[in-house]
Amino acid sequence: MKRITPDRSDIQTVGIFTGGGVAPGLNAVIFGATNILKDYGHRVIGIVEGWAGMLEQKPIVELQSFTNDRLRSLLRKPGTILKNSRTKISPSQYDQVRQTADGYGLDSVIAIGGDDTLEQATELSRHSILNIIGVPKTIDNDIEGTDKTFGFETAYHEAAHHIIRMRTDAKAMNRIAGVEIMGRDAGWITLFGGYFGGADITLIPEFPISIKRIAERVRQIYSEQQYVVIAIAEGYMPKAGEEDPFGHERKEDAARTLLQLIKKETGLPTQVQVSGYSVRNGPPLASDGIFASELGAMAGYLAHQKKYGNMVSLRGGEVTSIPLADVHGGRCVTKEYYDPQTMRKWDLPPNIMRERRIG
Ligand code: F6P
Repeated sequence: MKRITPDRSDIQTVGIFTGGGVAPGLNAVIFGATNILKDYGHRVIGIVEGWAGMLEQKPIVELQSFTNDRLRSLLRKPGTILKNSRTKISPSQYDQVRQTADGYGLDSVIAIGGDDTLEQATELSRHSILNIIGVPKTIDNDIEGTDKTFGFETAYHEAAHHIIRMRTDAKAMNRIAGVEIMGRDAGWITLFGGYFGGADITLIPEFPISIKRIAERVRQIYSEQQYVVIAIAEGYMPKAGEEDPFGHERKEDAARTLLQLIKKETGLPTQVQVSGYSVRNGPPLASDGIFASELGAMAGYLAHQKKYGNMVSLRGGEVTSIPLADVHGGRCVTKEYYDPQTMRKWDLPPNIMRERRIG
C-alpha cells in the first residue's frame, strides 16, 4: 500500500472493539481497519471487551504499534484479540461512555458487532455520544442492510462437515441422525450447511413443519436408504434456555427434543450431534478472512473521512456503507431459499426462483 505522509493536525485517534459472540474474521476486520488507518498516520487503539471496555475504560491495545507481520497474521487468526462481551448500555450510562471516550482521547470508534452491538451504536450515535462506524458481524447472517455477514460462510462450512461425518455414522448404524446447528432465530447456517453437507432433511425456524409430516418424510427416506441425516437449526424447537442481557434466549436441546419426537412417531433408532460453538471458533475460511479485512478497510477509510453514523456493508458484490439508522436485525430465510416439500434448500439461486415464481 502507498504510504501517506500525515499532516499532524489531521491525526486522529480511532478505537476499535468487538462485541457479542465470536465470529471467524473478527481479527481480520481489526487488521483491515488498522492497516489503512496506520497508513493515513492515525493512532489506532483496541478497546477490550466491547461495550464493557467503553464503560469501564479498561487497558487498551496499541494496535498501530503492531509490526506489519503481526498485523497481517490477524487475517487468519480465530477468535478476537480484543475479547468480547454482551454488555448492554442504558441511557443513564451514556455520560460514562462519553467520559471513557474522552479519557482515551478518541475521535471515533469502529464497533464490530451483531444486531445488539449495532443497535447500541445507533443509539449512541443518534444521541451524539460517540462518532461511530459499525461493522456487521454474526455467523447467523441475519442483519438487514448487508447481503452477507463475515463469519457466516465459515460457520456453514464447519456445520457441513459435522453433517458429512454424521452421515458416516448414521449409515453404518442404520439410524436417524440429527445435527443441531447454531443461528439463533435464523436458519441461514443450517440451510446452507445442510445443503452442502448433503442433509436429507433440513429444518429451520422460518418454516415450521408438523411432526407428522417430518415423520412421514423420515419414513420415506429411511425405506429407501436405511438411514436419514437431519440438519436442525438450534432455534427450530420452541424450548429455550436462559436469557442474555439483550433478552435472547440461549437455544438448547432442539435436536434432542425433535429426535425424541421422531423416535416416538416412527419407532426408528436415533442419534444426536450438537455442532455447537465449534462452528464459530476456528480460523476463517480464506474468502471470509479476506471479505472481513475489506469490511475493516472500508470502516477505517470512513473513520479517516469522518463519515460517522454509518455501517459498512456488502451490496451487489461491492463493499460500501449505509446509515446505521437503516440497519436492523432479524433478516430471515425467505421462500426463494427453502422448499418445504422436500424440506431442503432449493437447487436454484433465489433470483431464478423469484423469476419462476415457485418459491
Ligand atoms: O449470535 C451468534 C451466536 O453464535 C448464535 O448462533 C448463538 O445462538 C449465540 O450466539 C450463542 O450465544 P452465547 O455466545 O452467548 O452462548
